[in-house]
Amino acid sequence: MQALATADLQEATHEELILGLLVEGGSDFVSGEALSGKLGLSRTAVWKVVNALRRKGYRIEAVPSRGYRLLESPDRLTSLELLPLLETHDLGRTVHSFDEVDSTNAVAFRLALEGAEHGELVVAERQTGGRGRRGRSWSSPGGLNLYASFILRPDLLPQRAPELTLVAAVAVAESVRAAGAPADIKWPNDLVVGGRKICGILTELSADPDRVQFVVLGIGVNLNARREDFPPDVAEVATSLLELTGRPVPRAPFTAGLCRRLEEWLDVHGAEGFRPVRERWRALAITLGQEVLVKAERREIRGVAVDVDEDGALRVRTEDGTEERILAGDVEQVRSRVAPPMPPRAW
Ligand code: BTN
Repeated sequence: MQALATADLQEATHEELILGLLVEGGSDFVSGEALSGKLGLSRTAVWKVVNALRRKGYRIEAVPSRGYRLLESPDRLTSLELLPLLETHDLGRTVHSFDEVDSTNAVAFRLALEGAEHGELVVAERQTGGRGRRGRSWSSPGGLNLYASFILRPDLLPQRAPELTLVAAVAVAESVRAAGAPADIKWPNDLVVGGRKICGILTELSADPDRVQFVVLGIGVNLNARREDFPPDVAEVATSLLELTGRPVPRAPFTAGLCRRLEEWLDVHGAEGFRPVRERWRALAITLGQEVLVKAERREIRGVAVDVDEDGALRVRTEDGTEERILAGDVEQVRSRVAPPMPPRAW
């Protein structure tokens, strides 16, 4: 596991602050005087921080007597890029970013055991052992997609933890749709476009009998990978936002938007319970009303998906007219609705 090379803490903080002010300034210049005044630094020190940012790939214009203006940010995913864009109170406020890890979920789980707080986020450029649901792997080519794991500490009974999986599916579906791809949710939390998978969510839990200790919410979204970036078997069934829209997705704004939506839905869930989440999930889901084959732990159930219950379980009406409740499994043979292309919107 190799952490991204960072400057010393003090310097990183100055970089974050100056970058935040330049992002806030948008297309306007921010004067050197304003920057040095706000940070309590000399003009020369500000210049040095600006140059350090340039070495990291930021294009910053400097014009005498006008100041500095941010022209372009590199497509990196560290706190430096994320913090100025965040609109959350907790999620993503602390970012642990890595070049390479086995699995961001594994790292987040270890950090949570060591006491990491609600909302801390682990991201990596690449995963060597990305984990999928039901013991599968998650293909994680480097520098292209989002591999993120949030540590959550909800005040929740353990039996209600699966609801968070559907909360996450709603937030990611909205983020992917806002980026221009007509994604639908396939029960419980796969995101698909035209039958191809664009996102997977893996929730891992640590709980006492009567209380959730923490949840690690792992989210993988295929943003900028092309088919050839995946191994052949994955390329058959996967897609990405780039493939679907033809436009590269800057990862920090996408992630900041996801943090905002996820936090909003977690807040709704905390304040009003599962009902509003369930309503939104139903509106975004492709599974209901479809003929499905559900592969559960030890059995397969064929029938029509009727609804999701109050606890997130899928109800399937089988051929003999009985209804089965399924708490965990994979849905197959879902016929895709043909969704109209959606216009791109801001994140
Ligand atoms: C699935 O099988 O659909 C779930 C895939 C979850 C993948 C994400 S990528 C970030 C996080 N780290 C992991 O190892 N897995 C999750």
